[in-house]
Amino acid sequence: MGMLALLRAPSTAPREGTGGLLLLLSPLPPRCSGESTSSRRNCWLFMAVEGLTRKSRTYFRTNSFSEPHRWVFRHDGWYYMTYTTNDDVTLLRSQVLTDWNNVESKVLFTPPPGKNYSTDLWAPELHQLNGTWYVIFTADPRSDSPSPEVDMYCPYNCPAVHHRMYVLEGHGSDPWSANFAYKTQLDTYDQFAIDGTYFQHTSGLYHIYSCWTTQYAAWPANLCITKLENPWTVASPFSERQIISVPSLPWEKTPYGRAENDRLSSNEGPQQLTNLRTGQQFLIYSAARSDNRNYCLGLLELTLGGDPMNPSDWHKHQYPVFYQNPAESAFGVGHASFVLSPDGTEDWIVYHGMQDPTNGWSARTIRAQKFTWNDDGTPNFPKPGYGPYETPSGQ
Ligand SMILES: *[C@@H]1O[C@H](CO)[C@@H](O)[C@H](O)[C@H]1NC(C)=O
Ligand SMILES: *[C@@H]1O[C@H](CO)[C@@H](O)[C@H](O)[C@H]1NC(C)=O
Repeated sequence: MGMLALLRAPSTAPREGTGGLLLLLSPLPPRCSGESTSSRRNCWLFMAVEGLTRKSRTYFRTNSFSEPHRWVFRHDGWYYMTYTTNDDVTLLRSQVLTDWNNVESKVLFTPPPGKNYSTDLWAPELHQLNGTWYVIFTADPRSDSPSPEVDMYCPYNCPAVHHRMYVLEGHGSDPWSANFAYKTQLDTYDQFAIDGTYFQHTSGLYHIYSCWTTQYAAWPANLCITKLENPWTVASPFSERQIISVPSLPWEKTPYGRAENDRLSSNEGPQQLTNLRTGQQFLIYSAARSDNRNYCLGLLELTLGGDPMNPSDWHKHQYPVFYQNPAESAFGVGHASFVLSPDGTEDWIVYHGMQDPTNGWSARTIRAQKFTWNDDGTPNFPKPGYGPYETPSGQ
């Protein structure tokens, strides 16, 4: 038996997803094997299974969330997680980053039927901008099944051709008590848009999202930027929309190095990451394909003092900065968000990954790990794994 042993969990009926597997770690690393309360507190296992019934006495074990479209932030002593059942926007809150079982949950928004944003709600993020809360999310009409008249324009297949970005607004200082209402569509010129996020810069507010070059291009999925007048209004016309990243490197394609065409080549899930010490601005994004082992994180760096709307001010790292770790069965790692530990001294990455890379999207679960910074100011992400890891500082 190696480091990891897989056992069938007794008498549990998994609701969905990963199928009721219980993961045990053996042998236990020294700092987590003690019986004292403090040593138990100091290690945890960010788990990735459905239907667990046995509580470990040694680890913090999460997680029953197989929903990958989640995003974590911290506000006033709480960790918040936005996620979606595909039909709504849901907010969870937890006092700890490492356990989302049995936490409070609240549906922020359920769309009415018959709208362009009624189905496939994906990747909601909640941002506080100028004192007001905004949820930015992806959605489509009628589960986006394009008619033959639309489908015929796409070169290979026509996925997600009607996916667009939308905004909810909520007033109040506290996201938990704020009432959220539909605000508007965030204009992407009637073209494919998913995974949109806000990018804040001294020069203003921007929308960065995954885009196609034309209405029916289908692949590749690139990263686009537009300038915003406010969190729900785009200031720049289509002619000023800029593509700041294209999946052109071998690891941004799938299979690795795919030569024949751009099918499945993706840049998506963009997230702003600021080095507070140096002021460097990064955009961490997911590359390759979310349903297989090759999904990984890439990095764009904005020139200090550069213009986010100028593609040549963005510099792509030639290699992924976070990627699969077969030695620990951690595959398909991507779609990150970033938070601080409770005492503000540590940086943490929250992401999704797969233990079994052969089962596609349903195998994705959330994980969190600490990361640090390199001497050149770039983030230094760990190898993905399952721990046990020390809990965030101050927890
Ligand atoms: C719904 O989406 C279609 C296709 O993108 C678009 O032509 C139409 O104007 C949209 N309807 C509304 C009310 O925005
Ligand atoms: C906040 O408001 C100021 C003044 O109206 C504006 O210049 C700035 O862009 C706004 N910031 C965001 C993030 O909306």
